[in-house]
Amino acid sequence: MDIEFRDSLDAKSPRVVARIVEQDKLPADLPMAISEGAAATRFFGKPGQVFDGFAEEDGKLVRLALAGAGKKSAEGRHAALERAGAALAAKYLTSGETAIAIDAETSGLDAEETAAVLMGARLRAWRWDHYRTKLRDEQKRTLTKVVVIGAPKGTAAEWEDAQAVARGVEFTRELVAEPANVIYPESFVARCQERFKGTGAKLVVLDDAAMEKLGMGALLGVGLGSERPSRLLAIEWMGGKKNEAPTAFVGKGVTFDTGGISIKPAPGMEDMKWDMGGAGAVAGAMLALALRKAKANVIGVCGLVENMPDGKAMRPGDIVTSMSGQTVEVLNTDAEGRLVLCDALTWVQQEYKPARIVDLATLTGAMLIALGHEHAGLFSNNDKISDELLHAGKQAGDKLWRFPLAPEYDKLLDSPIADMKNIGGRYAGSITAAQFLGRFIENDTPWAHLDIAGMVWATKPGATWDKGATGYGVRLLDRFIRNTTEA
Ligand code: BES
Ligand code: MN
Ligand code: ZN
Repeated sequence: MDIEFRDSLDAKSPRVVARIVEQDKLPADLPMAISEGAAATRFFGKPGQVFDGFAEEDGKLVRLALAGAGKKSAEGRHAALERAGAALAAKYLTSGETAIAIDAETSGLDAEETAAVLMGARLRAWRWDHYRTKLRDEQKRTLTKVVVIGAPKGTAAEWEDAQAVARGVEFTRELVAEPANVIYPESFVARCQERFKGTGAKLVVLDDAAMEKLGMGALLGVGLGSERPSRLLAIEWMGGKKNEAPTAFVGKGVTFDTGGISIKPAPGMEDMKWDMGGAGAVAGAMLALALRKAKANVIGVCGLVENMPDGKAMRPGDIVTSMSGQTVEVLNTDAEGRLVLCDALTWVQQEYKPARIVDLATLTGAMLIALGHEHAGLFSNNDKISDELLHAGKQAGDKLWRFPLAPEYDKLLDSPIADMKNIGGRYAGSITAAQFLGRFIENDTPWAHLDIAGMVWATKPGATWDKGATGYGVRLLDRFIRNTTEA
């Protein structure tokens, strides 16, 4: 959806004019049909509430919308403004209206607040209708433009910055929404190469042979059963000080997870097309950073494989040697994400010597049992990076909750024949998965693992997303870089 800025309403302005209003404070200058209509329908201006009405002005019908932004003094003001924009987008998306105006002048918002409304509208308006060839007219999206009238000085610049982040979120959603016959390791890379063109980011791609040479037996082991070759993708954005050690983001990109020979049950297996949500978030975050020319050095690594059962696939009990030299007894081929991540983690440390590492992965079903769809799990060897991520998550609306790591959990991974097993047993499954990754972090580098299994996909619409791919993680990582590296 496009955003345009204009000084004042004129004959060419959209028919719908929306105003952002404070809770329990309806503006005094509204036409009677609107003010009484709003009161009659119990519109109070709560965050996310929308009133849609008609009035006559100079013999012409005008359509006026009121969107609630809650109380001005309330905590979470920014999120409430995003919800106001999102509610407007949801309301008019398939309404037949092709554009709406937002009257920024009478809404009394500053530049940053206006940009928040626009961000909410833009994110909520995203849909992936690529494969729908038979939508009825009234189901088709009509809204493609928001015209901002009389925006305060500085709004365009604020929006420029926010739009880069929106594009990142949208890219992640696209990658996650695409089915596994369209997005597989090679096509994931190709889609990135196309999307990063002209951004100044540098893409490095390792194929099977290159990974073989580096000894990535764990990552490659997962791909053995697939017809699709595996890939390791690094996206480099070096916008910061020369010689400053980069931050590394590492994403699990299992483009489809059948479980392998330890095959998953059929019902719900289709969900495993979004088992690349960690890699998707990394790619989207890197796009956001590149588009807004972030003053930071950041490397985004995506470990891309498909986990399939086959005559060539790994067997339970097989032992693989990781790039770090550590050996892993693969007792369950469905615990594949950690095998992909461990080699990606070793590689990024050897190649880039990062100052800190954040990995994102749809790693365990146990995460959904623990936290549902409200928070991602955070696991870390370092209190500072944990606090920074928790804080960034709150600001960005991508919430996190920290879990413990401890030697007692780590011990559960000991194997009678190799350096470790790839599963820890029935209990604390998300923690033992994190402990596994922790064994590949060198020199106590500050590291955080985010288990986002419950967050990448939604079965119902949320604050700034429709049902489907949420784009979780992009705004979190962007905010984390702003706070820690650019501040
Ligand atoms: N991708 C799954 C985790 C997952 C499951 C994410 C359901 C979202 C929804 C992961 O590869 C997996 O299969 N994990 C196993 C680990 C177990 C075998 C130790 C799990 O969680 O069951
Ligand atoms: Mn699995
Ligand atoms: Zn998986």
